[in-house]
Amino acid sequence: MNGAESLAFSSLNDLSWWLADPAEREATFARHRRDDPRPFVRISPQGEAGFWALTRHADVLEVSRRPDDFCSGEGGTQIFDQPEQLRAYRGSIIDMDNPEHARLRKIVSRGFTHQSLGPLRGEIDATSREIIREMPQGGECDFVSEFAALLPLRVISNMLGVPREHEQFIFNATNVILGATDAEYISDQSRAGIEKAVTAASVALIDLLSGLAEERVAHPRDDVISKLVAADEENLTPAELARFFILLVGAGNETTRNAITHGLLALTQHPEERDRWQADYERYAVSAVEEIFRWATPVIHFRRTVTRDGVTLGDQTFAKGDKVVLWYNSANRDEQVFTDPYRFDIARDPNPHVAFGAPGPHFCLGAHLARLELQVVFKALFEELPDIRAVGEPQMLRSNFLHGVKHLQARYTRP
Ligand code: HEM
Repeated sequence: MNGAESLAFSSLNDLSWWLADPAEREATFARHRRDDPRPFVRISPQGEAGFWALTRHADVLEVSRRPDDFCSGEGGTQIFDQPEQLRAYRGSIIDMDNPEHARLRKIVSRGFTHQSLGPLRGEIDATSREIIREMPQGGECDFVSEFAALLPLRVISNMLGVPREHEQFIFNATNVILGATDAEYISDQSRAGIEKAVTAASVALIDLLSGLAEERVAHPRDDVISKLVAADEENLTPAELARFFILLVGAGNETTRNAITHGLLALTQHPEERDRWQADYERYAVSAVEEIFRWATPVIHFRRTVTRDGVTLGDQTFAKGDKVVLWYNSANRDEQVFTDPYRFDIARDPNPHVAFGAPGPHFCLGAHLARLELQVVFKALFEELPDIRAVGEPQMLRSNFLHGVKHLQARYTRP
């Protein structure tokens, strides 16, 4: 297969391909990993706005650890450059390079270390059980909106100090921002329609944040917003804080929601693995959750931009400004790294998946939190609703960025 002629892969930008047969998608990625791991994908017929698609685990690792050659700040980390009007709202640390990236990440990471999350375990457990109690008594629900979305949303809102009354508003706003390419969230799917709706949702979130920030300056509390607005010369400017807030409420709930939902789906489709985990929860808690992250790969890709002519990756040489896209979904099924990659195995070890990105300066800030959430959530679900299972087909988000499930029916009996 020749990279420049790799027509099948032009589908990468065709969102209906992402809603179609998953088996065909997996087969296409597998073929590329084997025969043509870095195809060039044309976006327009002239090919001026294409990108190199990296499908192998080794390449995703290498590019992530070489930010001087493959940067995040030139036009952002999505396939299409960020439109000018959105730069004021997007473009937090995920779309930055050093020195700003290091400066801001140091400030905001205070609240997300392994140690600082320790006390959260009990709170996440209590929140999980609270939501389970609120689930319909009748024994059937939309697992996404009535459980999986609420848990990370409540956890991140509590950490930040956002009152419960704003929960539904944040749910709707982040659906618009991160589910922008799906008509369920933005009915006008023209480019202008999407930009308008995403801008409106971002402005509304910033309004909410501004009110909270002002309040915390006057009356500090023990929450992340208070820490970030406290009088301290190292602190964030109001604009930096606003962009970081949008990143956090989006990254903090849309991704984890999908990991939880894919987890229930995988456990339903692999009852022998579920039985094994339910029989000895603690033994598999860490490895099962890692396998759910690998299996789900909630974030499908991020992009980098080549910083100078002559940058190489294996036998490939790039030019300044080339876009390279890291396909985490493909890396997480790489046969060179994972034995039997299409098997869902809750005891998989080692499991060097790249669901949170690969090691490097942008490795997911919320990885500890997401891991803790899943370890606690499935324990609560197994204890409170031991026979909960997915029924019917999941309704998938139309996206090549988030591996999202919009709706999934679940059935359960309360013991
Ligand atoms: C299953 C859950 C999650 C997944 C799959 C996920 C995935 C990712 C990925 C792939 C990246 C980019 C890594 C890179 O570019 O190299 C990232 C970055 C990031 N994530 Fe997550 N994430 C999750 C949960 C969270 C949570 C709960 C939070 C915060 C509360 C969070 C906050 C962030 C931030 C702030 C960044 C940017 C880090 C930087 O650029 O320095 N994420 N995440």
